[in-house]
Amino acid sequence: MTVKINEYYLLLKGNYIFAEIAERVENYQTEHPQANIIKMGIGDVNKPLTHAVIREFQNAVKEMSKADTFHGYGPEQGYQFLIEEIIKNEYKPRGIELNENEVFISDGAKCDTGNIQEIFSLNNKVAVTDPVYPVYVDSNVMAGRTGSMNKDGRYQNLTYLPCTEENKFVPELPNSNIDLIYLCYPNNPTGTTLNKEQLREWVDYAKDNKSIILFDAAYEAYIQEKNIPHSIYEIEGARDVAVEFRSFSKNAGFTGTRCAYTVVPEEIMGYDVHGHTHPLNSLWKRRQTTKFNGVSYPVQKAAMAVYSSEGKNEIKELINYYMKNSAVIRESLKNIGLNVYGGVNSPYIWTKIPKNMNSWDFFDLLLDKAHIVGTPGVGFGPSGEGYLRLSAFNTLKNTKEAMERISNLSF
Ligand code: MLT
Repeated sequence: MTVKINEYYLLLKGNYIFAEIAERVENYQTEHPQANIIKMGIGDVNKPLTHAVIREFQNAVKEMSKADTFHGYGPEQGYQFLIEEIIKNEYKPRGIELNENEVFISDGAKCDTGNIQEIFSLNNKVAVTDPVYPVYVDSNVMAGRTGSMNKDGRYQNLTYLPCTEENKFVPELPNSNIDLIYLCYPNNPTGTTLNKEQLREWVDYAKDNKSIILFDAAYEAYIQEKNIPHSIYEIEGARDVAVEFRSFSKNAGFTGTRCAYTVVPEEIMGYDVHGHTHPLNSLWKRRQTTKFNGVSYPVQKAAMAVYSSEGKNEIKELINYYMKNSAVIRESLKNIGLNVYGGVNSPYIWTKIPKNMNSWDFFDLLLDKAHIVGTPGVGFGPSGEGYLRLSAFNTLKNTKEAMERISNLSF
């Protein structure tokens, strides 16, 4: 007997970008044990969970230690207590009405954005912005929805919507009929945003073309400016065409704790081969109840504490802290003459690399000469070549130190 593998995995090129970076940095550190490396690569928070969150977390763990308050399997789609708070605090204040059965608690926006493609046919045409969070692309490659990668770094059967300096990082609407469109705003990796009018164009496109938008809003808590939508449901009609992904990772520091949620409005329909409609909500529920057993009770209790008044204040402080780092990065890079994008409504700063150096060469140069880790733009797609992403998730002290080191480099 020979066990056959899923050969679509062989179409993937190289490692997952952040695994690749971690490996390179580890090798460098082994060879240069004295190097004081400042990591501004992966968007992982460095501040601990807040007091309000930890208190609820601990209380819930205590509950788990007693027979009469112990919790076994919870509802796969999440406890009502957390879902209610999400609707009340994230959506109601923005005039968005959601039903409780439209919110699905999960262990991460990464998992959900990777898994959602399962409920769609392999024949759908998919579009991604370029550069893009690699999970959207790779999960479709693994499923067999693309062909192999062309020499230009693009997979066959996948539509890339370039976002570059030339179009101010605003993707143009596809000129063909696309079924599934992944959008992430505030954007990972460019840190740029779409305003309401720009997002409305996408919702209208989706309505006109019977497409579905998979909207990743994991960074919405970083939005500072008015007229930047926090949720796609702020746009009229989006309930008919958009699934939204949110997370507690970046706002409340749950990257290691794991809690997120996905909104699938009851109105969104997909079609079978006979043209009959089916609610995506039921398909996603079926998928989650079959393949997922829910986020642990203590973690959901901890997430709920984000919505207490103490929790809200603490979260605001966290965001302000990282946004100060963003400002330091932006200003420092501008001062040395680099073109800088993002970082205003986002913890990511996207910069054009000087002297036409490529992304990986610049990554190596920064690591070797300044002991700083960034993320090479090309790791997010071919249009990211020539750019570097820096993350504001660090201490202010390290951020300032990193910027001083970069300012002292001569390119
Ligand atoms: C990133 O650095 O792009 C993110 O941290 C990755 C993630 O959220 O999975």
